[in-house]
Amino acid sequence: MTDKYAVFGNPIAQSKSPYIHTEFAKQTQQTMSYQAILAPVDQFSQSLMAFFTAGGKGANVTAPFKEQAFAACDELSDLAKLAGAVNTLIYLPDGRIRGDNTDGIGLVTDVIQHFGDIAGKRLLLVGAGGAARGCIKPLLQAGVKLTICNRTFSKAQNLAELFIEFGDVTAKPIYELDSPFDLIVNSTSAGLAGELITLPSSIINSATQCYDMSYGAEVTLFNQWALSQGADQVADGLGMLVGQAAQSFSIWRGVMPKTQVVHDTLRAQLS
Ligand code: ATR
Repeated sequence: MTDKYAVFGNPIAQSKSPYIHTEFAKQTQQTMSYQAILAPVDQFSQSLMAFFTAGGKGANVTAPFKEQAFAACDELSDLAKLAGAVNTLIYLPDGRIRGDNTDGIGLVTDVIQHFGDIAGKRLLLVGAGGAARGCIKPLLQAGVKLTICNRTFSKAQNLAELFIEFGDVTAKPIYELDSPFDLIVNSTSAGLAGELITLPSSIINSATQCYDMSYGAEVTLFNQWALSQGADQVADGLGMLVGQAAQSFSIWRGVMPKTQVVHDTLRAQLS
């Protein structure tokens, strides 16, 4: 029987995950299906259990269900525990659900792909919501010196305290940022709402590499701002999307797919 996988979200029609995983399956010759499931906002766990009891082997979870998915798990990976959110579910043979979070590794893999090794680099993480939290441990493990800033400073402080045992991490108020970073990663949802974050121009010089977790057909608002401040290198989060999918795929299927062709096809479709 074909192994069944799905992504749960609301909305979900825009999801590129079915395309990505179907391409990965072809490339690695796996017999599996992958569908998008629109779960009602108040019925995520019911939808999920219906899928698993009907033979689903695993699932991805996207907004707004990543915290609910975390709560639905019987077992969690260390990264999922630290992220407080789950984007990858495995339905174990004994009927228990295991949760993992592949967003952070997807980000780090893509940042390195674009900008080279990040060990020892001074990295500013902008934002302290769920997207930021999920990537902090993988960034620290990659050896960055991390500063977190956020519109609401207390949230950045909380995250810095939570992750201090894993590496070099501090929180700074935005108004205290006064010198250039090697790398800046935007994890905020401001761009999605068409808003621009207010940041001092002193954090960027021509050597600063900027990465926006958002992506789109156009250069993202954050990256437009970074370029206008003199940054030479910017990248958006399309590769992170494909990267987190590849990690999920390898957890389920035991084989790591190649990401470049899928990434390039999605980029061409966007424009
Ligand atoms: P996600 O899961 O995408 O991270 P979230 O947990 O709601 O979503 O977090 C959104 C992040 O974007 C937060 O860091 C938020 O800042 P606050 O903590 O101050 O709310 C940030 N954000 C959203 N809109 C913003 C804006 N216009 N300017 C600056 N930061 C913004």
